[in-house]
Amino acid sequence: MSEAVRMEWQALANQPRRTLAELFGDPGRVDRLATTLDLPGGPIRFDWSKTHLDADLLAGFERLAAAADFAGRRAALLSGEQVNTTEGRAAEHPAQRGMGKPDTVDEAAALHGRMHMLVEAIHGGALGEVRHLIHIGIGGSALGPALAIDALARDGAEVDVHVVSNIDGCALEQAFAACDPATTLIAVASKTFTTIETMTNAASALAWLRDNGVDDPYGRVIALTAAPDKAVAWGVDETRVLPFQESVGGRYSLWSSIGFPIALALGWDEFQAFLDGAAAIDRHFAEADGAANLPLRAAFADQYYTRIRGCQTRAVFAYDERLALFPDYLQQLEMESNGKAVKADGTPVDGPTAPITWGGVGTDAQHAVFQLLHQGTVLIPVDFLAAIQPGDALDPAHHRILLSNCFAQGAALMAGKASDDPARAYSGDRPSTTILVEDLNAATLGALIAFHEHRTFANAVLLGINPFDQFGVELGKQIANQIEAGGTTFDPSTEALLKLAGIG
Ligand code: F6P
Repeated sequence: MSEAVRMEWQALANQPRRTLAELFGDPGRVDRLATTLDLPGGPIRFDWSKTHLDADLLAGFERLAAAADFAGRRAALLSGEQVNTTEGRAAEHPAQRGMGKPDTVDEAAALHGRMHMLVEAIHGGALGEVRHLIHIGIGGSALGPALAIDALARDGAEVDVHVVSNIDGCALEQAFAACDPATTLIAVASKTFTTIETMTNAASALAWLRDNGVDDPYGRVIALTAAPDKAVAWGVDETRVLPFQESVGGRYSLWSSIGFPIALALGWDEFQAFLDGAAAIDRHFAEADGAANLPLRAAFADQYYTRIRGCQTRAVFAYDERLALFPDYLQQLEMESNGKAVKADGTPVDGPTAPITWGGVGTDAQHAVFQLLHQGTVLIPVDFLAAIQPGDALDPAHHRILLSNCFAQGAALMAGKASDDPARAYSGDRPSTTILVEDLNAATLGALIAFHEHRTFANAVLLGINPFDQFGVELGKQIANQIEAGGTTFDPSTEALLKLAGIG
């Protein structure tokens, strides 16, 4: 950490702490801390007024961002420089949406063109009747498609998609039970085309097709991968391999051919709208400076609570059933990106990096975990996500009560309530951010995801870490492989467990 960065952190830590009640003494606070972006799918309002950010903190964080060369790091990301230094490559997910090195943008557009043609061909009957798609992938190769389809395909889809990730055969069996083998395609989604869960599930899906009378099971497979040679070697015909670029990280890959099930289920125009919504956020992220840059402002709040206030978790509650998978998606994005103990230069960090991201769906979570948010002894900053337009066609009371509850929770966390009975008292002064979309559609979902990608990157810049590698996931995989291969002795506890389970 440079001396300038260290000094800015110190200055931030020394700033006086004001309560939310004190901060709301400023009548212009909501106007200053809430911003609406007009985006292709409709406006999204981002409201940080119920956080402890104020003009002094924003100015302090702007100085920190300058000392950490936020502008330079952002330019490096968006122009396709090698920002993933430990793996010697760029992070070119924005290029999938049109921003980046011209060659990469052109290649991404060509690969999208190939995917578009296959989607149209399947819709046109080139592979016979297709009613179901079993999408097999894990982590970044599953979470994005699962989120987008769950959010956007509730009113029906051109093809019924089942996303299967877990190696636990129960997951695949559930998909089999819902699909007719004669009208099912299998998408094998893996950047590396080596992940054991995905390859095992893919083999079982082929066996299921074969056992159920499909003569040419490989003819029903689409491969979505950055390793097309491996997919061909595995048996997929080249015409049904949809490649994507190696410089697209797994958890940023839903914009590439990993998004194939989204396009197949919703149609190409919707997938394009999804990309366009994200591209609008890319432009905002590229152009806005300081705290006016909303992903950066979000990172200011994140860093304030994690590093200055010592919060170990941050919670995200979607007050919208369609976004029920959003917290799961964010967990990988944020924790796999920023859950690091070393900086980009290899030296140890000197404080916390990523908080634990967790959350759920409102109003369900109110009746399960909100007790701790209101009266527990730890401070947990909360993000609320909601849409003004309902996703349902029932009595408008449903949506009205949903939104009322969402806004009530933010108000209650902040205001608290005094009581003579300590068990019934609420301390209040608990922060929340509200992200309110006018309408949840492909474009605004794309924008929401891209906003969080850039927020995650902005956090990494302030921390000085590389958010684009994930070496922490490797050791467990290696040990699992050793167990599978046999011949290695482990600690006594693990040995006893293996013996009990009859493994090895
Ligand atoms: O184990 C973590 C991880 O590497 C993720 O980063 C990635 O999204 C996931 O595994 C799946 O990898 P692949 O797409 O190569 O199968």
